[in-house]
Amino acid sequence: MTIDELYKRLSSIHPGAVLCTYTKEKVEQMLPLINEINERKKDQDTVILAHSYVAPEIVLGVADYTGDSFKLSEDATKVTQKTILFSAVRFMGETAKILNPEKDVLIPGPLTGCSLADSITGEQVRKLREQHPDYTFVCYINTTAAVKAACDVCVTSGNVMKIVESLPTDKICFVPDKLMGENIKSEMEKRGVKKDFILHDGCCYVHETYDSDLINFFRSQNPGLKVVSHPECHPGVALLSDYVGSTGQMVKYIGEQPKGSKFLLLTECGLNARMHYEHPDMEFIGSCSMCKYMKSNSLENILETLRHPEKAEHVDIDEPTRVAAKKCIDAMFHYANL
Ligand code: 13P
Ligand code: SF4
Repeated sequence: MTIDELYKRLSSIHPGAVLCTYTKEKVEQMLPLINEINERKKDQDTVILAHSYVAPEIVLGVADYTGDSFKLSEDATKVTQKTILFSAVRFMGETAKILNPEKDVLIPGPLTGCSLADSITGEQVRKLREQHPDYTFVCYINTTAAVKAACDVCVTSGNVMKIVESLPTDKICFVPDKLMGENIKSEMEKRGVKKDFILHDGCCYVHETYDSDLINFFRSQNPGLKVVSHPECHPGVALLSDYVGSTGQMVKYIGEQPKGSKFLLLTECGLNARMHYEHPDMEFIGSCSMCKYMKSNSLENILETLRHPEKAEHVDIDEPTRVAAKKCIDAMFHYANL
């Protein structure tokens, strides 16, 4: 890759954060890192999977696969390399390990958590199960392997409504995202599906900050604005949105809108950045909300991980937990493909 090629793509990003403003000098400094990462990837039989929320120079410069949680978990089943370097957060690396026990899965960032995944443990789920033995336990993919191992079926933001509707039960305990749970409830009501829900009180600290006042403010300033939000947002936000979906579904929806459309994207600003360079003919407004966990990934720590894999964080899951968590993820693939 040349400096000019990389600069052309990165300089189209302008989400209002210093982190995502690219000067030619900044790109020049990045290029040796990008080139070394790409050479080492080949030499060390390593594939890089990156979520759309990580920094654009990772997505554009070194990632082999990029997308939302569901796409990345599918991609993880197809890779042939012996090592997976997962530029995202720990629960995504765990999903890759659950599906590829024979591969070495490495996480480069120092902050590998997620406010949702960290909000509940496997032990808490087992206690809940004892209290509600007749409920089917559904977990969002933003959970640890231990939580997945204690649940019946996993869902992602892209397939949650389809799976919850098609599950052959009317009693569902959904963990850990309370706001997504409330969005599921209202969507099921809309679809005329009667189910009883028990919810946990986890939240995504990025998405819970958006509210209907914010949407009303931006709409009043921008006639014709299309509001696109993630199901981790409050139900009031979903209600006022033109489209609600996973990051992958948002990308698809935006791509289908007429040129010149103006959007307010209510999700982590890595997706805003991605839309800036993929759709220079559209307009994206709003503030930049960053996930500190996703943004702790950098070219520097990816390179350090490749240079010294022995010092990196390797995802390790004990076999009984992995097998039980895989059953939960396999159930997701089953219901998602019905
Ligand atoms: P997606 O599966 O929509 O990419 O969401 C992952 C996530 O962490 C959202 O905050
Ligand atoms: Fe977790 Fe929220 Fe960050 Fe997504 S944006 S990884 S849900 S903390």
